[in-house]
Amino acid sequence: MEKVRGVRTEKISVRQLEVGQVLTTTLLDEKGQILLGKGKRVTQAFLDRLKTRGQDYIFAEVLEEVTIETPVEDVSLETKQKTLHDLEETLTLLSQGKEVPTDPLEQDVRKILQEVKAHQELVIPITQLKKHDDFTFTHSLNVSIIATFIGKFLGLREEAIQTLGLGALLHDLGKLHIPPEILHKPQPLTPEEREVIQKHPAVARKILDEQTHLSGMAKNIALQHHEKIDGSGYPRHLFGRDISFLAQIAAVADIYEALTSDRPYRKALPIFEVVEYLMGNAGYKLDEKVVSTFVSHISPYQVGDVVRLSNGEEAVVSRLNPVLPFRPFVRIRTVSPDGKVVLSEEIDLSRSLILTIVGEIALQSQIKLD
Ligand SMILES: [Fe+2]
Repeated sequence: MEKVRGVRTEKISVRQLEVGQVLTTTLLDEKGQILLGKGKRVTQAFLDRLKTRGQDYIFAEVLEEVTIETPVEDVSLETKQKTLHDLEETLTLLSQGKEVPTDPLEQDVRKILQEVKAHQELVIPITQLKKHDDFTFTHSLNVSIIATFIGKFLGLREEAIQTLGLGALLHDLGKLHIPPEILHKPQPLTPEEREVIQKHPAVARKILDEQTHLSGMAKNIALQHHEKIDGSGYPRHLFGRDISFLAQIAAVADIYEALTSDRPYRKALPIFEVVEYLMGNAGYKLDEKVVSTFVSHISPYQVGDVVRLSNGEEAVVSRLNPVLPFRPFVRIRTVSPDGKVVLSEEIDLSRSLILTIVGEIALQSQIKLD
């Protein structure tokens, strides 16, 4: 829990004001315009003016401490940086054709799993993963973390989750051998170029076979992460159970991560659309249980996000809802004429039939109410 200072308004009767009284708060009219500032003295002329305006009630600003849940980090920045560093080093050595020990990455994956397991939340505020987009290899790291979360939510054994995390970390290793002009091409790919791209899982498996001592299970994640249960995937067009379960988890994590990131040929898709896409393919191209477990454990918001409501008002996410992650608790946010942020009482959007979130105003813009 974290305390932030906020300001709310309280309706008071004009009759409560007395001539000569020194104001301890600022008085506002119903539109939020300042009538008399804090520290000023109430005069008879002021009361007469209110009377002429027919104002029986005015609003007083009340400074209050607002308690909000502290946003939860999925995995600490320190662990992410260390993993990215080791990943970069491992991939560099592998691309030079050297034999590489994978112990550092195994340790990193173990650390990630420890942190994921210690994560008490029922839902992961998934947008946090996007904070560190500027790092190279962030995609692989994110896929590994997401896959680890899915493994935990599915109740997999620790050993299996570690294999999953490690395989996911190295899943796109084969892309190092794709010419950048094809990999980052903004235009649609030619059939020949697509063929080159579709070789990356097999290339990865070959490199891992020749230059590492990884387990077959971990290596298969790299080989099979683009296979689909209806046989429409690549490189081997495997069906259902022929695809390793860990590779099917990595596939869901990979698609989620890729679609929610900007690419040279398209902008990142909103989480709602990505969730729709995953659910639309569940049981058809993607494993149904993996998808349903994943989407029921992610929250598109985190505490402090500023969102637009269907009535046009701005609100701050004050609490996540583990049962209906798309309907968190919010406080309506208004700014008084002198620039102070005013937060309403908490509203439970899961109980509101008419009020919904229609957009995010500034992703991860934590409220700062100083
Ligand atoms: Fe891939």
